[in-house]
Amino acid sequence: MSIGCVILAGGEGKRMMSERPKVLCGVLKKPMLGWVLDTAMSFGFDEIGVVTGYKSELTEEYLQTRSGNISTFYQEKRLGTGDAVKQALELISGVDCVCVLCGDAPFIDKETLRGSLEFHKSSGAGVTVITAKLDDPTGYGRIIRDGDRFTAIREQKDCSPEEAKICEVNSGAYWFNSKALISALPKLTTNNANGEFYLTDCVQIIGSAAAFTSENPDIVLGANTRRGLLELNEKARQKVFERLMDEGVSFITTDGIIIGADVKIGCDTLILPNTVILGKTKIGKGCEIGANSHIEDCVIGDNVTLDNVKACEAVIEDNVKIGPFAQLRPGTTIRKGVKIGDFVEIKNSDIGENTAVAHLTYLGDSDVGRGVNFGCGCVTANYDGVNKFRTEIGDHAFIGCNTNLIAPVKIGENATTGAGSTITREVPPNSLAVERSQTRIIENWQKNFKRKKK
Ligand code: UD1
Ligand code: CA
Repeated sequence: MSIGCVILAGGEGKRMMSERPKVLCGVLKKPMLGWVLDTAMSFGFDEIGVVTGYKSELTEEYLQTRSGNISTFYQEKRLGTGDAVKQALELISGVDCVCVLCGDAPFIDKETLRGSLEFHKSSGAGVTVITAKLDDPTGYGRIIRDGDRFTAIREQKDCSPEEAKICEVNSGAYWFNSKALISALPKLTTNNANGEFYLTDCVQIIGSAAAFTSENPDIVLGANTRRGLLELNEKARQKVFERLMDEGVSFITTDGIIIGADVKIGCDTLILPNTVILGKTKIGKGCEIGANSHIEDCVIGDNVTLDNVKACEAVIEDNVKIGPFAQLRPGTTIRKGVKIGDFVEIKNSDIGENTAVAHLTYLGDSDVGRGVNFGCGCVTANYDGVNKFRTEIGDHAFIGCNTNLIAPVKIGENATTGAGSTITREVPPNSLAVERSQTRIIENWQKNFKRKKK
């Protein structure tokens, strides 16, 4: 049996007060649509389609950043969830069974999809609605039953006071037999409080409907407002902490800590307050990260200490110590055993094993060997206002305090630069380069103010 997935992402989300489509609002800085797509991609659908609408160019732009085969369908006017699904008829008619998901309900999970698909197949129903029981069902469509028989979904605005008390709600995720869905869609009307084509009316039209109640009530949670979005963020944040603690990661407190859903961290690593770790970051074992660190899309080895560090798209190998107050910018690799101290910025550079960059230094577009020592306040001048050039430093070189290295330039192995030198040409191995004037001593020099007094 072939299965397809249609994700509804065309809504404007007026209540979100955003200039972007609602589904691009972030939970732990990942668009809600991204969460749904990740689940769908890992489930193994034969086809995945996304219905776009409001500011579709922005949704398309986001989809471009994703790998995998995702088709899109454009809904010209926001006429409701039923109308949105109609746009994907081509996908639906190509599969036996189709799963419809909401792009604004990020916590749908694989287990629920798997369980509900089995249930759908065995019950033989034309449509299976995934439901959950909530303490506060406000805003969701209610599951209406006649005795044991599931008969309809009633939207909040269309509910009688009695129906509004029902706590079992529609998650907005469904399994449809494609044929049943295709014949139901043209029968939808706009005869409801919102004047929209409700996909939920398919339950009554198809007749043979089943409800699969998920064990995990979070799967229904969606965000329609910024307040709702904050609740989803808090929930997601807590879930990430729980997963990481199960995997052996430590926290003294979780105050101010935000860790993205895709971040991986090894056991015995301690995360300190006010630390943000996002994207595809991977951190090894036995590290101490924070306080006050911001790490995005980095690969970090074991036993690394990062204290007040900002790092983006950098690789940090084992046993490295960085901080306090250092920045690693994209394209940087820090090899084993390196020490980087306060007020150091490194960009697009490779820093060799056991090198020390202790204080107040900028290294850009540089290839640095092993065991190099940088004094305080060194700068690679990598930009002449038009082009950028690389600096090469051999193993065990000693770069004196306040050295400027004017790229392109090469410092040989074991070479030394005198403090305060501005190096503009190649320094051979094992040599000393001093580029500064000699000290002049003027004896018996009287200070100006003393002369004035006389
Ligand atoms: C919908 C369900 C409700 C369910 C809830 C779960 C209907 C009528 N109601 O309500 O029973 O409890 O989801 O979250 O389906 N969309 C489009 N085009 C449109 C309208 C919506 O693509 O014309 C997309 C939205 O971007 C969103 C999804 O469909 O991702 C759901 O739409 P939304 O307006 O949020 O529906 P709810 O009112 O939450
Ligand atoms: Ca919604």
